[in-house]
Amino acid sequence: MQLLKAKFINIFGKGHEVKYVKSPLRICPLGAHVDHQNGLVTGMTLDASIDMAYSKNDDGYVRVQSLEFPDEDYFHIKNVPDLLPGFWGNYLRGAILSLKRNFKITNGINAVIRGKHPIGGLSSSAAVTTAYLLALCDVNGINISKTDLIQYNHWVETNFIGLNNGILDQSANILGEDEHLMFMDCKTGEYELIKRPDNMEDFEIVVVFSGLTKMLISTDYNNRVDECKVAAWIIQEYNNEKRKVLKDTRLRDVSTETYYKYKNLIPGKFAKRAEHFFTENQRVLEGIKAWKKGDIQHFGRLMFESGESSIVNYESGCPELITIYNILKDTPGVYGARFSGAGYRGCCIGIIDPKYKEEIVQSVEKRYPAKHPEYKDSYQVYFSKTNGGAKIL
Ligand code: GLA
Repeated sequence: MQLLKAKFINIFGKGHEVKYVKSPLRICPLGAHVDHQNGLVTGMTLDASIDMAYSKNDDGYVRVQSLEFPDEDYFHIKNVPDLLPGFWGNYLRGAILSLKRNFKITNGINAVIRGKHPIGGLSSSAAVTTAYLLALCDVNGINISKTDLIQYNHWVETNFIGLNNGILDQSANILGEDEHLMFMDCKTGEYELIKRPDNMEDFEIVVVFSGLTKMLISTDYNNRVDECKVAAWIIQEYNNEKRKVLKDTRLRDVSTETYYKYKNLIPGKFAKRAEHFFTENQRVLEGIKAWKKGDIQHFGRLMFESGESSIVNYESGCPELITIYNILKDTPGVYGARFSGAGYRGCCIGIIDPKYKEEIVQSVEKRYPAKHPEYKDSYQVYFSKTNGGAKIL
């Protein structure tokens, strides 16, 4: 936070009451690509975070400088600029618009923001959005519950950015607790924070960054979401059920029994998407049981299976991340691994036995750059521990 403070003073001068927000990056060990279908997900928050120093601007101006990206975003709260494709400041703009739907926002913020990990796959977008929302609520005297914060954050992705994702990223980032697994039912919003049992072997999280960055909005992400909805429609049609408009249809609307009844009649890729959804929900339930028993080996095996299903059934991912997934699968000391987020860019994550860190680094070093030499200078291997959810310090 020292660097942030120095930068803040550099830009805005002394004499402001400066506060800090810490908003962690997240991983999703189990429950991939099911949140947008109202499925079951798990999440953990890392000790790597997006950090922001801010103060109130009672003239109503919003002025934010990123330490990683060029250009500041600077405007008046009354005139929030439109989305600028690819611009980091979009999440700030979206956060204000999201709150403005229900609250009177009169004060702006002066802020400096930074993130420690390479962007992509650890949900830095949900993390920055939470940081802006917390700061804006604070300077405008707005009290907001964690579950509402998830919804205000999610609105930014779906209604401002245009990514039709679910609430996994926001839930993990906001609800996460150190040494806990967050379990969320995206249909009901009910969640559980499950502490790591004392008998569970030690673990850490490995993050292998591919070197590949791109925004999810420019990937096949939204197409997959639609394919899932069409799969739900097809099953409902076979079952003579009344269908909703596609926009409001989710695979979770279909019962597991109905799915297994018509499974073999679903055509092509729609069958694969549905298979991913129903088996992934099952893996989450099994994973929760394993976690509660302290059985990290079993939990890890389910992560590998989830990774496999994301590749084979959900057909997400990219060659670089599939290479990393396969390396981690073959490396001793890795309990389980999968794509961190959607898998189109960013990183793979694994839950590992800390005794094997050295071997894990060597295994990636030996195989990844040899297969993808274009990323030999940009790929990275990190180790992280868990930490708490987003908060004002
Ligand atoms: C991205 C999305 C999430 C979720 C994951 C895949 O991180 O933002 O909503 O769908 O991909 O599980």
